[in-house]
Amino acid sequence: MDGATSTLRITPLSEHIGAEVTGIDLKQPLDPETKAKLNQALLDHIALVIRDQSFSAPEYAEAVRAFGKPMMQHYSQYQTPDNEFVNFISNQHTNDKGERVKHGASWHTDHTNHECPPKCTVLYAVELPKEGGDTGILNTRAGYDSLLDDYKQKLDGLKTINVFQGRAALRESTKQVTERDAKKYSEAMVQPLIRTHPETGKKAVYFHTVKVDTIEGMEPDETRVLLEDVLGRINKPEFIYRHKWRLGDMLIWDNRSAMHQAYYDYDTSQPRTLMRIILEGDKPF
Ligand SMILES: [Fe+2]
Repeated sequence: MDGATSTLRITPLSEHIGAEVTGIDLKQPLDPETKAKLNQALLDHIALVIRDQSFSAPEYAEAVRAFGKPMMQHYSQYQTPDNEFVNFISNQHTNDKGERVKHGASWHTDHTNHECPPKCTVLYAVELPKEGGDTGILNTRAGYDSLLDDYKQKLDGLKTINVFQGRAALRESTKQVTERDAKKYSEAMVQPLIRTHPETGKKAVYFHTVKVDTIEGMEPDETRVLLEDVLGRINKPEFIYRHKWRLGDMLIWDNRSAMHQAYYDYDTSQPRTLMRIILEGDKPF
């Protein structure tokens, strides 16, 4: 047993979601046992908050390799100058109308318009407001399990059609889509509304509230009504981990079992900056 394994502590934060990880410095090389423990904890608890880290963008991009391989993100305008895999998420970003951009202000999962969307999303706090600016993670595996059998049957087999900005969007995005991104990601991608986790075999609800254009065979309005209904049923307080940020926190969650959102119920004149990385995933099924 080396130093990392002997000090590592993984403490569940609630019955359904979240665990706190302490006693580890992800800048140090990890032995296979420690890596396996962390990855198992992520599968079990869906979201991990790893305390007391200290990263530059390149160090951060290296550290997340304990969980997977970083992949390129949308919105290249937010890329950090010193690492192409790391994007800034800031409440001070503005669009071409001069409006403040609201990153991830409703429940969603990331990059569903990719054939292989990211298996995990990772955030690291750089600058925080005095209070608030929380990130929520919703356990959509428990959400799916809680649905009535008839309703599950109705959803099983449905497919969402995903584009950069969907017509059935439950929220309009305030972010600027650059010409480069629009061209690069012009293809529509079909994804299952209920996906099966490739490692645990468990089913979960899976959709992006901005990127879904329609459910296959439905109109945008009908799609929106159905997705709002699904979200209304699974969005229960006991399935949510609401992360209150501390400097040094690295938050990672499993997109194959979760949706996430940023809470905007705080004074947004105070800067909030996070660094985001997404990790390569498989084709959902
Ligand atoms: Fe997101």
